[in-house]
Amino acid sequence: MKQILVLHGPNLNLLGSREPEQYGTETLEEINWEMATTAKKQGIEVVAFQSNSEGELVSRIQEARGRYEAIIINAAAYTHTSIAIRDAILAVALPVVEVHLSNIYQRESFRHVSLISDVVIGQVCGFGAQSYLLGLSGVIDYLENLGDSAKK
Ligand code: DQA
Repeated sequence: MKQILVLHGPNLNLLGSREPEQYGTETLEEINWEMATTAKKQGIEVVAFQSNSEGELVSRIQEARGRYEAIIINAAAYTHTSIAIRDAILAVALPVVEVHLSNIYQRESFRHVSLISDVVIGQVCGFGAQSYLLGLSGVIDYLENLGDSAKK
């Protein structure tokens, strides 16, 4: 069975109670369950991991090589600061989809910059928890077509 790694960055463990007007009321567990259920129907296993630590996220990206077909990542605040996460994505050369619950371009200017957006196959932001499911659908489609649509 194909496996996709879903990585959640800092403070996303607090989803459900954290700034609900910004991030909605779904918990991380609920989001992970929805992704796993949706993926399973398509014969794909989703493995989710959350960390507040940049180094742990980097290690998980490194370890994904050879184990997972793709990565979906919400690097949260590290999106805007982490050259290490960017470098890890480049190093593993796996298809990666960047997701954000909020529309980062409608928020403070420091959130307008993503250090990973140019090294991922695509970005989904602004749809709340649905961003993850849209990202999942996008990456499954990408895997099925082996990236052909992106090359057109
Ligand atoms: C976020 C947006 C980031 O700017 C913020 O630091 C987060 C969550 C999002 O999902 O909207 O923690 O990645």
